[in-house]
Formats: sequence, structure tokens, C-alpha cells
Amino acid sequence: MFELKHRDGLARICRLETAHGTLETPVLLPVINPNQLLISPREMKETFKIEGLITNSYIIFKNDHLREPALEKGVHELIGFEGTIMTDSGTFQSHVYGDIELDPIEIVKFQRDIGSDIGTILDVFSEPDDSHSKVKSDLEETLKRAKASVEHKGDMLLAGTVQGGIFEDLRAESASRISELACDVVPIGGVVPLMESQRYADLVNVVMTSKQNLDPSKPVHLFGCGHPMMFSLAALMGCDIFDSSAYAKFAKNGRMLFVDGTRFLAEMKKLPCECPVCYGRTPDELTAHPEKENLLAMHNLHVSFAEIKRIKQAIHEGRLWEMVEQRCRGHPKLLDGLKQLRKYKDFMEKHEPLSRELAFLHTSPDSYHRPVVARYQKRLAERFETSKTAHIVFPESHKPYHRHYKDKMSQLPENAQFWVDSYFGPAPMELDEMYPIAQSVIPEHPDAETIDAISAFSKSFFDSLGGDVKHYSDDMKTGKPAHHGDIAPERVRAVADMQFGKGASAFLFNGNLEFIKSKKTGKIRNVIVDGEHVLSMRASTGFFTLKPSGAERLHAAFPTPKLRVITQNEPAEFNREGKNVFAKFVLDADPEIVPGDEVLIVNESDELAAIGRALLTRDEMLAFKTGIAVKVREGIQARPE
Ligand code: GUN
Ligand code: ZN
Repeated sequence: MFELKHRDGLARICRLETAHGTLETPVLLPVINPNQLLISPREMKETFKIEGLITNSYIIFKNDHLREPALEKGVHELIGFEGTIMTDSGTFQSHVYGDIELDPIEIVKFQRDIGSDIGTILDVFSEPDDSHSKVKSDLEETLKRAKASVEHKGDMLLAGTVQGGIFEDLRAESASRISELACDVVPIGGVVPLMESQRYADLVNVVMTSKQNLDPSKPVHLFGCGHPMMFSLAALMGCDIFDSSAYAKFAKNGRMLFVDGTRFLAEMKKLPCECPVCYGRTPDELTAHPEKENLLAMHNLHVSFAEIKRIKQAIHEGRLWEMVEQRCRGHPKLLDGLKQLRKYKDFMEKHEPLSRELAFLHTSPDSYHRPVVARYQKRLAERFETSKTAHIVFPESHKPYHRHYKDKMSQLPENAQFWVDSYFGPAPMELDEMYPIAQSVIPEHPDAETIDAISAFSKSFFDSLGGDVKHYSDDMKTGKPAHHGDIAPERVRAVADMQFGKGASAFLFNGNLEFIKSKKTGKIRNVIVDGEHVLSMRASTGFFTLKPSGAERLHAAFPTPKLRVITQNEPAEFNREGKNVFAKFVLDADPEIVPGDEVLIVNESDELAAIGRALLTRDEMLAFKTGIAVKVREGIQARPE
């Protein structure tokens, strides 16, 4: 059972149920070596509240003093841990130490028999430098083993690894073929050499080509990702599970993990860390401590688990992009990875939430390359319509723009369309309260790269607009005050088209328009058409929520599947009662739905049953077997015949 609860970017907070408890992703599984317990699972549970750990079934298998007790009492008792235990298969050992005698099916059966919660197939590890033909034949062998292993997993969840080296075609093939098998977790493997040599651009290519081809309803483990400096980038790309042997390995040779890199204790003059190991200690005291190695390992775990918590908090806040930019700007090699991610903007945009509760912060030259910027520009070009042929463009200013430029506009010709040359691209005055235009904090002087990108888009947009485009100057004032009146009608039209699609406003608002506004802020709250409450506007995002009458208008305006989530007939009756839409009942949906979109819930005959907010994309709705696809706000009763 894998269920999505919250999301940002491709990152997701999910619940993964196993036989020994539930993991909340993104999750870090510390690696336990059953031969040498540097820090016991019991201590990890007490100190870090770990939900799970990972150990190596191959080590247990080949040691007589471990194998028999494991088979007899189970791996949980062997290790002394009651939570979720994942086991790896020996792939890495087999790869590093050459051909170890290991039967791929026997090791899967062994993992099942010792009671592992999540076992792993014996995949074939391909190196980044291996040739295409070698990687291809490794891949075929891995898939053959995966297919055979599935037959023997029993009640154990099975992890089927994606390999494919650095070849995008092979990663894609590996990911889509492994998705067709009954594997429960889909790790991305063969990446340790990329991480060790800090080839993060290659890593981003590998992860993203895999993600684009994986079943979105399966948890993704990034094998060997144990350095906290990489967690946020990996999470943003949709990796759900990490494993750390780094905490112990690095402690062994006196190294400390930090979110911006690694340092030798011997080179530290200070311990700039809030963890209980470092706090109140000097580097000399730590060096002289008889349990130095153990303490360093504890520090490494503190730093790693704290970073996972920060990531989860950032997902809740909708601030993961900001966090990743900060991390990647902290290390030039990571920055190569972040820049590579721009290549996957279209895929990221499909999963990008419609809006966030907190403002967009421009924190680096990378901020402009977030998918939300691309979405605004694309929708502006495709969906925004104006009948005016004269255009006057104001410079970026205080928000909301319409208030800042009110006096100036009042002295300009009535037939002009007013724009602001904003960070996100040209912003028509009537979109100045819509996310992310209003909900953004941009420095007064952004970096040169960003300024160039803004002006390039602005120029090409206005060039393609045609008509008479002029930048504002004081001598444009006509001298006689013109009355522009209320821009509310233009505002609701513009937002409706940006949110629901080109032409939506014509169907929503054909009638006598009235507005109910906030007494305090003057912002539009409700839109009434011919006496019917059609839409409400959310003050925090400037987007609409649908009322039944608005839903009916959109339903009549656009043919299926536009704006729709289509569910089975019987559950649709529950949606009419206001119950949420579960993913398992969804038959199809509009492929353009993004998380946070207002959607129409219809039954198999395209009869409107409810309105609500989508939590998943179409592909996710079709893939997930558990969890909510749409949070229903209001059911709609069937119309009498
Ligand atoms: N540990 C680190 N990398 C890998 C991998 O590619 N496959 C498996 N099974 N374990 C790993
Ligand atoms: Zn510390």
C-alpha cells in the first residue's frame, strides 16, 4: 500500500505500509551491518525514531552464525528491530568482489524466508563507463531475474531495480519494463559511481529518465544515496527512499557529514552543528573521546535525519524548490545537477501544483527556471485574450500593480490594455492578484542572467502580440481624466481563461455579472451570474473555486475529458454525497489536470456528480490503488429526468 499525502515538485510525502509498520516518505533507511553494529537499531529507534532500516541479506546468507538464526527467528529478532526491515541482495558485493556464488532466486527466497519486509532482486550492476551493448545485456538479465523473482516473493514486498547505466534509452526501457512487473518498490540502481565522482548532471539524467518511465504509484529508492547534501535534490526529482551507509563509513575515517559537504574532524577548528554530539564540545574534545567513531556516526545520523525533516517541512510549505536551490548553490558540482534539471521542465510542470500557500521566493538565478514560471508564460501565450489593440507597459513595481498604477492609469486612454513587465513575463493588469504574480518576492535587482531572460521573453511576447505596444511615459497622459471603472469583469475573465482554458470565460460569464467583494480588502470573493453563484475567488492565490453552477457551465462548454475526472458509476453516487474520489475508482481524467486544479467529477455517462480539487495528475490517478485522487468540495445531485 503506497498512498500520496502531500507533494511539491516531484517530491511526495507518502505512506508505505509494510508488514512491520508504515514508512512516511521521503525516508532514510540507515544501513545496518549485521556483523558489526556500530550503533544498535535500538539506539537508532530511541534517538532518531527510525521507522525502518536496511541490511544485507547476502551477508546474513553467507555467514553460518547468522544464517541459521535468521531462518529460525527471523531477521527482526536477529537484528533486534521491530520496525520495517528492507534487505538488499548482494548485487553490490557481487559487482565489487567479482563473481560470488549466488543464485538470484535463492537469495530472493532467502529474504522472504527470514521475514524481510522489503526484499531486493539480485540485479546486475552496470557501471557508467560500460558500453551500450554490455549495459543492454546486463539489463536483459536483470529483467529476467526480476520476472522470475516476483513468483517467489510471497508476502514480502519486492524491490525491482532499474539499471541501464548512463544510457537514456536503456534507463527508459528498464524503468518501463520493470513497471510492468509486480514489483512493489522500484529502486534506481547503478548510481553509486556517479555520486562518488560527483557526476550530478549524469545522475539527474539517470533519475529523471527513469522517473519519466516508472509507474508513478510505486515508491522509488535511490540506491546508495546517503549523503545529506543530495537528499533535497533527489527528493525534488521524486525519490522516496534513501539508504545511508555513509554515516558509518565516513565516521570510520574521521569524516563528518554536513548538508553542504564533508569535513575531516581533524581539520575542524569549530563544530558548527546543533546536534547533541557537537553542541558544547570542541573538536579537540571530540577527537580525544574514547568513543569518537561512535559519536561521529551519531553526528552523521543527526545531520542526515534533520535534513530529511527539513525536506518534509519544505514539501508541506511548498518551498522545496527554494531549499534545493540553496543546497545546490552551496556546491558547484550539485549546481551542475540542478542546471541539468532544466531539461526536464515539461515533465516537472505536469506535476507542479497550481499554487502554493507561501510566496515564490527568487533565491538564485535558477529560480527563474522553475516550472511555475514556464507554466505562466505558456498559459499567457495560449490563453490570454484581449480585444484592445493599444498596449501600455508599466515597469515592475509594488504589488498589487493595479493599485500602484491607479492614478497613472486614470489619465491614460480608455482603449488601452495595461501591462506590467513583471518577473514572470508581461502581466496584464487584471492578473495582478493571481499566483504567482502577486505571491512572489523578487529582489529589486535580480542577477543579470535573470534580467536577460525576462527581457527576452517580454520582447518575444510583445512582438507576437501585434498591435501598438508602448512603454509608459508621463507624456502619454491625456490631461483629461478617463474613468476606467472597475476592472473586476476583466479580472474574472482573464483568471478563468488562465485557470480553466481558453474560452472558459465566455461560457462562465455569459449573463448579468455581479461581484461580492471583501469589505476589508476590496478583493472579489464571489462571482454571481444571472443571480447564480458561479465561482468564488481564493484571496490567497487569486484562483477560483467552482460552485455547482460554474461546474455545469464548464461541463456544457467543453467536451469530455476536459477538466474532468471520470469515475465508475457506483462510487460517483458517493461523490454526489460529498465523499472524496478514490484513485482506484478513476477510469480516466483530463491529461492536463495538475495538482490543485478544480475539476469536474463525472460518471461513466459524463453526468456531473461533484466538484473538487485534484491531488493527483491523470497518470497518477490511473496508477495509484490507494488514496484520494480528488478532494470533493461539493456533491451535485442528479437532475430529474
Ligand atoms: N546498492 C548500491 N547500488 C545498488 C544497486 O544498483 N543494486 C542493488 N541491489 N544494491 C545497490
Ligand atoms: Zn553534530
